[in-house]
Amino acid sequence: MTTRIFSGMRPSGKLHLGNYLGAIKNWIALQDAPDTAQCVFAAVDLHAITTPYDPATFQQNVTNVLLDYLAAGVDPKKSLLIRQSRVPQHTELMWLLSTISPVGWLERLPNWREKVEQVQSMGDRGASYQNNLSLLSYPVLMAADILLYKANLVPIGDDQLPHIELTNEVGAKFNHLFGDTFPNVKPFIAAGARIMSLQDPTKKMSKTGDDGIALTDTPDEVRGKIKRATTDSGREVTFDETAKPGISNLLTIFSTLSGKTVGELERDYAGKSYGDFKGDLAEVVVGFLAPFQQRRAELAADPATLARILTESEEKARIIASENLAEVHRAMGL
Ligand code: TYM
Repeated sequence: MTTRIFSGMRPSGKLHLGNYLGAIKNWIALQDAPDTAQCVFAAVDLHAITTPYDPATFQQNVTNVLLDYLAAGVDPKKSLLIRQSRVPQHTELMWLLSTISPVGWLERLPNWREKVEQVQSMGDRGASYQNNLSLLSYPVLMAADILLYKANLVPIGDDQLPHIELTNEVGAKFNHLFGDTFPNVKPFIAAGARIMSLQDPTKKMSKTGDDGIALTDTPDEVRGKIKRATTDSGREVTFDETAKPGISNLLTIFSTLSGKTVGELERDYAGKSYGDFKGDLAEVVVGFLAPFQQRRAELAADPATLARILTESEEKARIIASENLAEVHRAMGL
């Protein structure tokens, strides 16, 4: 089967280890897979503005996300690297899809409720966002992002699964009403699909909190955060998400970064302390981040290269997008 891939991240804070392990790591693997015919990776700036943000620093956030993608290994020779707002077909397709998206489908999504709670906790400015249409219609734009490129595989963390289900429901409804146009979309979820907060391992690691390891953290920040990470009662380094959510999360991070299985790690640390385990994990994370940060610094020092990559990618993306959108227009009788 020919695979067409789309994925994106909101430029609304520093990317963290969860974003890398849950998504970007798989983007890199998939861009090299033999069946892959097309990859589009986006900074989804139009999604990021659905929660309060500062226009003065927003472009820097967008640039930061794009630098993270490139430094992590997104290869502009194989993949298109775009800013969502620079391909206006995303928003047009969103409108067209919104004409067949029942409000009840959107209200049902857990992500919407979480977003409403999140903005409610963001002071007066946040509270003024809580009833906005875009918080509710957010997943229709996400469906448009994916369907615009007829993507059939979306590498994401598991928190995004309800959005993929909605994408398929809307796509199937379109096909039923207007004729076969959109493919079925499969999520690509791998180990590390849900990296939890280091402070509260019952919550996922997030961009907004300072509970995560940012890809730009210094070695000392990483060591400090892992040292302070919540562990569980007991002293064995064993995987048990219910009884030992803290250690289990650290084992997942260790395993996905080192390539060792959780079983191997359990054996390596049998009879050793949490402190030994955390100390080694910190060095694995520091060792992973060092070459990433080196590449990132080189890319950041050369803004012309990023600008060229974006210009070329966005031009190609607009061509694919306008061809697919023309097909949608024809199907809808526009
Ligand atoms: P966003 O920006 O919240 O997160 C970007 C990606 O990182 C994954 N992720 C995690 N994975 C593991 N553990 C975590 N703690 C963790 N936190 C985040 C997310 O699952 C996601 O894959 N709605 C999307 C952005 C989006 C999109 C799209 C994604 C817009 N259009 C089209 C895919 C396809 C979002 O807010 O992701």
